[in-house]
Amino acid sequence: MSGSNTQVLFESQDHKYIWLGADEVEEKGVIRTNQYLIIHKGKGILLDPGGLHLFSRVVSAVSQHISLDNIEAIFYSHQDPDVSSGIALWLGICNARIYISQLWTRFLPHFGLFDSERIISLSEEKLNLDLGGYAFKVIPSHFMHSVGCYSLFDPLSSILFTGDIGAADMAYDGNTLFADNFEAHKGSLVGFHKRYMNSRKVCARWVSMVRPLEPTLIAPQHGPLFRKDSLRSFLTWLENLECGTDLLDTFYGRN
Ligand SMILES: [Fe+2]
Ligand SMILES: [Fe+2]
Repeated sequence: MSGSNTQVLFESQDHKYIWLGADEVEEKGVIRTNQYLIIHKGKGILLDPGGLHLFSRVVSAVSQHISLDNIEAIFYSHQDPDVSSGIALWLGICNARIYISQLWTRFLPHFGLFDSERIISLSEEKLNLDLGGYAFKVIPSHFMHSVGCYSLFDPLSSILFTGDIGAADMAYDGNTLFADNFEAHKGSLVGFHKRYMNSRKVCARWVSMVRPLEPTLIAPQHGPLFRKDSLRSFLTWLENLECGTDLLDTFYGRN
């Protein structure tokens, strides 16, 4: 497996959606992450480009597809360090604006970012994210798991980027990026989703928002992607999942 092993997930004349490769070595105790790049008419948006220790690999993967000068936006699904701790480094090498929930903008200086002019706060009143006049759809995903959390739907490719929703901490085996057998894959999702996702009510609400979009691919920040039957099964599983506050006795222990 190589850090340069990027994969184009969708391509049309003016539009490309790219998975940016996997870490070369599996680091014990470090969660493995996916990063994505969307290019529209020569301009790029990075999705959850990650933390400090991934930075050089991700920069090199991005550079295979687009000049860093043409990265115009970075979308952060939420505030976690595996998502956004590299923010100061990214802003140092490109002119991108940053999109993140307004609940997290005040925390970014703790990752070394002081130029608030480049931050665009996402909120329910302001869910616009466009690249050269092309509008993405920002989907509220609050409490899954962060209190200020968004997914990003790309109408041209119909790919839905979900951040930690659908995440599995698994190594990329070098063959397929996709979890096509949902029953076999489900076991890798259960522990994380039961503990990190807030409640069945929240999961069901999110599914009710994304299902009508008819995504062709669900692309999480960790682990394999979902498509076709496995995508449908994943949504059904998630909308019925008892998790988080549904399971207080499990997490606190019974008195
Ligand atoms: Fe997270
Ligand atoms: Fe994550």
